[in-house]
Amino acid sequence: MKRLLGPSCQLETTCVPGGAVRFDIGSGRSNRTSGWIERRAVCVALPARLGSTMATVKDLGKKLAGSPAVMRLISNDRVMKAATGVMEARERFEQASGFWREGWRVLVDGHVLPNIDPAMDTDEDLGVDTVDAGRNGATGHARPNGAAHDATKNNGASHGANGSPPPAAAAPSPEAPRKTRTPEERRKAAEERLAKQMSQRVAISKTGGKDVFDKCFKFMAADNARKMGVYPFFRPLDFNNGPLAQLEGKEVVMLGSNNYLGLTTDPRVREAAQQAIEKYGTSMTGSRLVNGSMRLHNELEQQLAAYHGKEAGLVFTTGYQVNIAAISALLANKRSVAVIDKEDHASIYDGVRLAQAAGARMVRYKHNDPASLDKALSELGDDQGPLVITDGVFSAQGEIARLDELVKVVKKHKARILVDDAHALGVIGPGGRGTAAHFGVEKDVDLIGGTFSKSLASIGGWMVGDRKVLDYIQHFAFSFLFAASAAPPCVAAAMKSLEIMQAEPWRQVKLRENFTYMREELRRMGFELGNTDTAVIPIYIRDDLKTVMMWKSLLEDYGIYVNPFITPGVPPKQQVLRTSYMATHEKEHLDQALEAFEKVGKKFGVLS
Ligand SMILES: Cc1ncc(COP(=O)(O)O)c(C=O)c1O
Repeated sequence: MKRLLGPSCQLETTCVPGGAVRFDIGSGRSNRTSGWIERRAVCVALPARLGSTMATVKDLGKKLAGSPAVMRLISNDRVMKAATGVMEARERFEQASGFWREGWRVLVDGHVLPNIDPAMDTDEDLGVDTVDAGRNGATGHARPNGAAHDATKNNGASHGANGSPPPAAAAPSPEAPRKTRTPEERRKAAEERLAKQMSQRVAISKTGGKDVFDKCFKFMAADNARKMGVYPFFRPLDFNNGPLAQLEGKEVVMLGSNNYLGLTTDPRVREAAQQAIEKYGTSMTGSRLVNGSMRLHNELEQQLAAYHGKEAGLVFTTGYQVNIAAISALLANKRSVAVIDKEDHASIYDGVRLAQAAGARMVRYKHNDPASLDKALSELGDDQGPLVITDGVFSAQGEIARLDELVKVVKKHKARILVDDAHALGVIGPGGRGTAAHFGVEKDVDLIGGTFSKSLASIGGWMVGDRKVLDYIQHFAFSFLFAASAAPPCVAAAMKSLEIMQAEPWRQVKLRENFTYMREELRRMGFELGNTDTAVIPIYIRDDLKTVMMWKSLLEDYGIYVNPFITPGVPPKQQVLRTSYMATHEKEHLDQALEAFEKVGKKFGVLS
């Protein structure tokens, strides 16, 4: 293919069988450059003015073409199309250089994978960020928790480490020192920062054009990781039998599930689900509002309410839906403000974004910091209605929210508080009643929500609180009103698990023994574990590649299944191997894991 670049300059490309492309570029014999690029090579946006820049272009081209990360960025056909397009007109250069910058980010960051669990972030540089509807939050990409840290810090850290040029995104913020700014200035600055960071974070999703599928074909990170045998996600298990599971025919010690009480394969829970199928069938095929409610749902609601000492309960189809539904229903107006912990779960962020679409504002306070919450609430006007929302146990860190202090602040400001106890139910608090019970502040927490998908060994969600509040939610939450209700076997399994959980307190005791043993042993070995005091123990590796390689070695060499959390799912330098424990792990499982952790930790230089 020939393309004229200027009056006396042309680019010629020839695709040959075997996957390579020959390129020939220049304006005359002495000023020509040619060479071979792999078929999947990325195109660099070539400046229209060649002449003296040819040598630079040649070097840059060779460097990029030789880089495997670049090679797998996009397919050759699209590259060549983009290249020739760029060269057709000078104004295209701007557009192409933007694309190149994004390509560079993908190259440097190594991959663009979706958030795994966004509940990790750094507190660095966090004032109180506020975002109102229609500016960033409502219309921006709902990348939970990616909002604050991501691109700026990501770029700063990754690029420094790679010695590569920091893109514009990594430039120091021109904002004035925080202390001298008024709340309004800070709000504006935070909005701008958030918008900028969000746009950079979702690089690949921003490469849109006429065809909305285009970016899907450009998304190569997962395919490449699969090819390299280092893709850790979506791997189908043959069996997930509790402490032991089977992956591709091989038995593994499962340290990557949230089956905290080990009830997913309990014969009584299985039987309850089977009986419900026999009696009621497999699905309600309708929402709670119309044909989707059964007495089974109501019974479980009453049981959950009684268990938590609250007036009423509401059963949802998933834990994610709990937050989306409750938050969007309660905050759907311009005077409502979601005041959330920066490291709250993705579902909370998504619920807030829905509320923002209806006019609400979002204010984020520093992670688990009552003083920051106090400040955030102080800055709200009397006509604004804040709902403070926090995870009870933070899902990636295993850290318990400081609810005793947080509720004091909430009371002081006459605000309301919702606690997501997904990882707390069955794990902490007397009788496994979760975070509020752990601190003895159940009465001060307005709404407690959670999921069936962890200790309750099922699928579904729950919320308890005042009857009138739940009644409002069930009449005003679209995602509740227009989604099919939890299926009978799921409700029955959760109900049975709740019953077993209360009847067998040894499970919570054993769970604590197990995670305490692991935490102490891992710390003794020298691993860094953060502030965990629950069944989730993150092992900080602080490096993407090392995290994935350790995950791979643990799994393949030692049969230990853990979850690698890497960027951009977590901020740079916060990569972890997330481990989680069950009441049904035996000491021999844990010791097998400890031995493997020690060996792998030493092999990869995390332990000395
Ligand atoms: C804190 C938190 N909230 C909500 C959810 C969503 O629950 P579910 O899996 O039932 O949708 C999760 C799931 O991981 C979670 O960790």
